[in-house]
Amino acid sequence: MTRTLIHGGLVITASDEVHADVLIEHGRIAALAAPGVLTADRTIDATGKYVIPGGVDAHTHMELPFGGTFASDTFETGTRAAAWGGTTTIIDFAVQSVGHSLREGLDAWHAKAEGNCAVDYGFHMIVSDVNEHTLKEMDHLVEEGVTSFKQFMAYPGVFYSDDGQILRAMQRSAENGGLIMMHAENGIAIDVLVEQALARGETDPRYHGEVRKALLEAEATHRAIKLAQVAGAPLYVVHVSATEAVAELARARDEGLPVFGETCPQYLFLSTDNLAEPDFEGAKYVCSTPLRPKEHQAALWRGLRTNDLQVVSTDHCPFCFVGQKELGRGDFSKIPNGLPGVENRMDLLHQAVLDGHISRRRWIEIACASPARMFGLYPKKGTIAPGADADVVIYDPHAEQIMSAETHHMNVDYSAYEGRRTTGRVETVLSRGEPVITEREYTGRAGHGVFTPRSTCQYLT
Ligand code: URP
Ligand code: ZN
Ligand code: ZN
Ligand code: ZN
Repeated sequence: MTRTLIHGGLVITASDEVHADVLIEHGRIAALAAPGVLTADRTIDATGKYVIPGGVDAHTHMELPFGGTFASDTFETGTRAAAWGGTTTIIDFAVQSVGHSLREGLDAWHAKAEGNCAVDYGFHMIVSDVNEHTLKEMDHLVEEGVTSFKQFMAYPGVFYSDDGQILRAMQRSAENGGLIMMHAENGIAIDVLVEQALARGETDPRYHGEVRKALLEAEATHRAIKLAQVAGAPLYVVHVSATEAVAELARARDEGLPVFGETCPQYLFLSTDNLAEPDFEGAKYVCSTPLRPKEHQAALWRGLRTNDLQVVSTDHCPFCFVGQKELGRGDFSKIPNGLPGVENRMDLLHQAVLDGHISRRRWIEIACASPARMFGLYPKKGTIAPGADADVVIYDPHAEQIMSAETHHMNVDYSAYEGRRTTGRVETVLSRGEPVITEREYTGRAGHGVFTPRSTCQYLT
């Protein structure tokens, strides 16, 4: 039996910061003890470092088909990059295509991921076609550990659901314990504004931000909340970017409704200034919901502090600038939507600690513990406690780095944070006790990561 001891570090969880040694046995945390009390066969020195739970990124899109192309990270490259960035669990979105079953979609995503992942993974299911059959399938998926379902109020003709389909899926999830995740933007209205903008010759990437108005995010968020209230179902709104949408969530939560919100680093650190970069460079920042004017960032940080927003995920959905983002030259509506970021999230949020936006424990809460709780992975994932999977990151809070496509591990030809200096860096990463990153060398392997079935949302109990 190999016993590994991480000694000398500051163990940070969502609830505590303690100088403690962490004992690992059989891939799990066996004990936390006062420094120097325990011994082991193998030791990892964490003196002067943080010992934190591996990150849980509850929103990724490896290999997503979108706009006639595919997100450029595979499960292999994307989970390796996740590990480099201190994330040891991803929850990716399996896609049901219209006219096909949920089962077909889920099987296809299992086939893409199985044997290829460096770290553990789960799936949400994108429901693009609500009918009697798919409603029944939702029950089976919940039993199999796919306990959350994404619906889209945007993208008519692709992933879009109308209000009736949304209400039916919410009613079903109220019965089977599933959690509806909503892409809240009024896609029907947005498509009118897209058509009008293009007719005026407004084709540059920055118009993507102008037509996808904050008010249309707020309206959809409000409507989703009311539909969930009618259905008696909880609701999780993904990639919240607008002040007005945060206000809708905050008001509903003040009324005691079980509604939750996620935001992403791009909305906290980037803005419409990036979308307006010349020479089509703005295309690198096209995602939906869109980046907002800088003024919105304060509301997102406040929401994270007040717990009106509970989770920061990446919505990692990379498309290369060359050959992919370029599909939208001359027509912003043809730029594939999505940003890379699975490798950057833990570092950017650590920088937010240094910048005074959030506390250290809140960093771990929004990036590890809350996503694990929200999606039924806690306390297996998201914390350092006896019995938890030994998904552990040794984090050097003093190391400086400069984010760049030259040095990152995501399979994409640009960084959304090119040239940004941050303090704090992942040194070593364990996944179920196995070293995936060892003192900044990749020591993991494709196939170590396994599908991780989830229970229902633990944020409600
Ligand atoms: O622009 C984005 N967010 N692309 C990924 C698909 C989605 O809506 O989450
Ligand atoms: Zn043993
Ligand atoms: Zn979305
Ligand atoms: Zn997404």
